[in-house]
Amino acid sequence: MTYRGIIHRYRNYLDLPTEIEPVTLLEGDTPLIPVPELAARLGGGFELFVKFDGMNPTGSFKDRGMTAALTMAKARGKKTVICASTGNTSASAAAYANRAGLRAIVMIPDGKVAVGKLAGAIAYGAEIIQIPGSFDDALSFVVEISQKSDIELVNSLNPYRIEGQKSGAFEICDALGSAPDLLCLPVGNAGNITSYWAGFRQYNDVNGSGLPEILGVQAAGAAPLVLGHVVDQPETVATALRIGNPARGEQALAAAEESGGKIIAVSDDEILAAQKMLTSVGIWVEPASAAGLAGFKAQVEAGTINPAGKRVVLICTGHGMKDPDIITKNSPAPIRMPVNFDQIYQFIMKGL
Ligand code: F0G
Repeated sequence: MTYRGIIHRYRNYLDLPTEIEPVTLLEGDTPLIPVPELAARLGGGFELFVKFDGMNPTGSFKDRGMTAALTMAKARGKKTVICASTGNTSASAAAYANRAGLRAIVMIPDGKVAVGKLAGAIAYGAEIIQIPGSFDDALSFVVEISQKSDIELVNSLNPYRIEGQKSGAFEICDALGSAPDLLCLPVGNAGNITSYWAGFRQYNDVNGSGLPEILGVQAAGAAPLVLGHVVDQPETVATALRIGNPARGEQALAAAEESGGKIIAVSDDEILAAQKMLTSVGIWVEPASAAGLAGFKAQVEAGTINPAGKRVVLICTGHGMKDPDIITKNSPAPIRMPVNFDQIYQFIMKGL
């Protein structure tokens, strides 16, 4: 059957009017990649998978929620959508607004958005407002603007974003035949962990697919849910997670607790090391997306999680091409050689 996007595929599970025509870029249906090499490096004896949601149309998981948010915005006759963003939401909102024929306004923290994300928002022609503040400042502004006007908010406070993002959980259950034992994912504004938990619970209620334990992972410099208080100046190499006051923080904590899991923090070094581990098996994700692996690895090494005999899924939320700078800045420049066959050949043979 021709694939027609997550709303078409999971219509019966999504709280959307049945007759509605989806605004879609055929998001979802992303690969669940087995990574036995990484499982072996972490001691082995369990199954490990990467759900590579960076393979969505605009390069991040946000497209799952944005198809639902823009479908509803269009159906309700909205003309303009608005969001605050650390980057991925803005690119996704802009793309889906174009698909729907709506205007997109995005507000981003000045200089804190990875180049691939900013370029995306520009390429899709969003109206971009940069502020010398944080994501949290931007979010409070766009929420107020949406309350005072007919402009539709498409951050994950919008319930349709959550509806669409539940599809990640459905796809994993469908691919594995049931829910995994453990799900590890990054936590920023906390929409995705909320969505996954809602999705797994719903699928379990209907299909008896089981429930995973959830390990949510924040960056240490932006870990309000671990610290138990708002972080005024969140700072991390994982720019997607530079959030000090998550909109769905309480739901994230509840999801972790109800699932028997927890929310932890990892350092920037651990995040970058996990990013390297993933590239070493051919999967390039942006730093935020490596947080799930970083957290899982830390817990396994500390002995606080024993994965033996389990099925573990890591949600990799955004593609590595979103943030090319982090790689080129932290790596040696490629070797330069003259246009001379002999010298190049000798150089290559020397290294073998
Ligand atoms: N991973 C990536 C790549 C993200 O872009 C985000 C959030 C997250 C993880 C965290 O997800 O907020 O649902 O807990 N990015 C938002 C944005 C904030 O504006 O693009 P969350």
